[in-house]
Amino acid sequence: MLFRNRFLLLLALAALLAFLSLSLQFFHLIPVSAAKNGLSSKSRKRIMPDPATDPPVTDPVYEALLYCNIPSVGERSMEGHAPHHFKLVSVHVFIRHGDRYPLYAIPKTKRPEIDCTLVANRKPYHPKLEAFISHMSKGSGASFESPLNSLPLYPNHQLCEMGELTQTGVVQHLQNGQLLRDIYLKKHKLLSSDWSTDQLYLETTGKSRTLQSGLALLYGFLPDFDWKKIYFRHQPSALFCSGNCYCPVRNQYLEKEQRRQYLLRLKNSQLERTYGEMAKIVDIPTKQLRAANPIDSMLCHFCHNVSFPCTRNGCIDMEHFKVIKTHQIEDERERREKKLYLGYSLLGAHPILNQTIGRMQRAAEGRKEEIFALYSAHDVTLSPVLSALGLTEARFPRFAARLIFELWQDREKPSEHSVRILYNGVDVTFHTSFCQDHQKRSLKPMCPLENLVRFVKRDMFVALGSSSTNYYDACHRERF
Ligand SMILES: *[C@@H]1O[C@H](CO)[C@@H](O)[C@H](O)[C@H]1NC(C)=O
Ligand SMILES: *[C@@H]1O[C@H](CO)[C@@H](O)[C@H](O)[C@H]1NC(C)=O
Repeated sequence: MLFRNRFLLLLALAALLAFLSLSLQFFHLIPVSAAKNGLSSKSRKRIMPDPATDPPVTDPVYEALLYCNIPSVGERSMEGHAPHHFKLVSVHVFIRHGDRYPLYAIPKTKRPEIDCTLVANRKPYHPKLEAFISHMSKGSGASFESPLNSLPLYPNHQLCEMGELTQTGVVQHLQNGQLLRDIYLKKHKLLSSDWSTDQLYLETTGKSRTLQSGLALLYGFLPDFDWKKIYFRHQPSALFCSGNCYCPVRNQYLEKEQRRQYLLRLKNSQLERTYGEMAKIVDIPTKQLRAANPIDSMLCHFCHNVSFPCTRNGCIDMEHFKVIKTHQIEDERERREKKLYLGYSLLGAHPILNQTIGRMQRAAEGRKEEIFALYSAHDVTLSPVLSALGLTEARFPRFAARLIFELWQDREKPSEHSVRILYNGVDVTFHTSFCQDHQKRSLKPMCPLENLVRFVKRDMFVALGSSSTNYYDACHRERF
């Protein structure tokens, strides 16, 4: 039996390796030999365990590929797994928008030619894409909280506009929605067939890419996408902090964190040299090139298999890309170590976590409103939440990343509720700081809701190392 399991495991390993190596070579940007190097025996071992909780491997190309999140079949997912006597009560989903066009152009170069019109038969394809396009184009009666009403409901430009969601981005979220539908609706019957508007809570920032990502996810998720039942609220802050955004100490942490970033960059002479070379190619001062944040645009070239831009002075190339990406990995490593970002995150994520436990507690009391919450957000939303929860090993949120909080009730002890936390389909509950030791100390297979509540109401501030015991105090007490 043991032998057979091992054999199956080996088989799965081999399949995954073959897939990874294929997808690396998929890109003409990566010579076959580089792809082989990327999968040297050293990184091979580390690729296996857990892409969501394992620290990044140092291979920048592999990291970038994960970041692109190219839709594929057979996505892993541990959502909805619980002992059979547990009943699913509510689900809270945080997403990053899907694949988008860059926010910045590299000065004096041609923008990558990416088509942002939706066509059902273009790759990547999703069975629901055609119906989605037709449904969205009839959505002129949709009404959302202002100013969301003025946003287009789906991407539609022959050359993508800056920051626009791409067809890939739409497919990523249709896929997320369908995956969640199979688990939460078909298997666990979270919503009844006559579900009503007030069972959903939908919130998005005011960018078209977040609204459109939310719509794509819901289109994949809901059995009947009725415009009258869909109401998105507008969230002006990327931290989703609503009425509690004023927090001077959080800003102090952020300034210190930015200073740390700056100093680390100065120390990296290879990075400075690379920026210098690239600046020469596009013929602008190095400072101006750096300010234009070229990695954002280079990632778009990389993810869409479009070669990096050239000028008559030469081409930006894979070596430049690798140096900048490697520096990003190094920056994230130091960020974890120095903990300034943790301080920022604990304060930055408190309001939205507080709101979420409020919603969970009401659902635990048996209220039927807002049992499915969707927050359509950004990397700068998910990243502080992950950090605040103590998920230090979690990767930077890729396109269409999803972070999910599930609330479960024990049918055998109906007053007891438990939470599960999932990041990109991986169960990270027992990696969080509020449930890390739970399995060692308790026989219960699930993490109690009280742990999360205690963490948000009190222990978050203890983790800050201040003597404050509440948000207002922690935000205003002198720190530095
Ligand atoms: C990437 O582009 C190259 C050349 O333009 C092409 O041969 C290759 O098939 C493309 N790969 C994918 C996955 O589209
Ligand atoms: C936390 O949530 C409660 C209601 O659940 C609310 O009264 C309180 O103002 C919130 N605090 C913060 C700092 O968000």
